Amino acid sequence: MTRLSHAPTVKMSAPDLLRDLDLADEELHYLLRLASDVKRSPREYASALAGKSIALLFEKPSLRTRLTIELAIKQLGGDSLSLEGPIGVREPLKDIARNLDRWVNGIVARVFSQTTIEGLAEWSSVPVINALSDLFHPCQALADMQTIRERFGELDGLKLAFVGDGNNVAHSLMLTALRLGMDFALGCPRGYLPNPDIVAQAEGLAAVSGASLVVTHDAAQAVSGAHAVYADVWTSMGQEQEAVIRRRAFHEYQVNDALFGLARPDAVFMHCLPAKRGEEVSDAIMECGRSVVFDQAENRLHAQKALLLMML
Ligand code: CP
Ligand code: NVA
Repeated sequence: MTRLSHAPTVKMSAPDLLRDLDLADEELHYLLRLASDVKRSPREYASALAGKSIALLFEKPSLRTRLTIELAIKQLGGDSLSLEGPIGVREPLKDIARNLDRWVNGIVARVFSQTTIEGLAEWSSVPVINALSDLFHPCQALADMQTIRERFGELDGLKLAFVGDGNNVAHSLMLTALRLGMDFALGCPRGYLPNPDIVAQAEGLAAVSGASLVVTHDAAQAVSGAHAVYADVWTSMGQEQEAVIRRRAFHEYQVNDALFGLARPDAVFMHCLPAKRGEEVSDAIMECGRSVVFDQAENRLHAQKALLLMML
């Protein structure tokens, strides 16, 4: 692989990462190479963000995203400041964005609604990174692609199966995997399909890359022959009042020995975490030797460093 210097040679052309497609195809490929280099040689990047401050705004809880983004900024030599709580309640979002604009060099935000992150980007001139919204989780998908590539050496031609809700994580994985030439299959119950506009975009990406996209209610069909089987919670943050009804709707969509057994013998199990053992995944699969969930969590750090290097 070509050696990358500590200064990235490819910068992101879009000012913000609000959704996965803000990263152009060649930028996505470069980011994954940079993430591997950052992982291998972290010290070479230790002062890349010297003198830069980044605001972290979290409307929802977080373990991985919050700590890995803070650590990434720190290990790149920058400073972070964080705030928790709803955005746009005490004062209008457009005022918050214009305050931050005067103080910091970037904003990372975890929000309930995609419109909030878009508003922050509209009203500030500094780069804004989506740390999860109702529609997307782009930072997660980047780390996940890094994880799959580390395991199989490549991505093109592999099959990624997502079992569960057609949610933010499913959207980001779909949009990212197909662009990298991976076949993507989603198995979900009736009533929990992914957003139709995002599926239409994904179909366009599949047509370009030649990869296949399958959205089915048949979990076995989705998982059959997959290199990676991915699960996420049935009830996402903000949907807690639907937990009972969702448990009923999703009970046949648990990744357990029987379902995982339909994937390839060398398939890996993936989960963005946090996981609800006994719901979307059995304890045995979470803990098995082919579970790469903590590799994914580790790669959140490296992939986000690469992203920060390309954006700031
Ligand atoms: N996977 C993920 O985003 O985890 P957190 O919600 O803990 O940040
Ligand atoms: N779909 C989950 C992902 C958590 C990282 C949620 O939005 O709560």
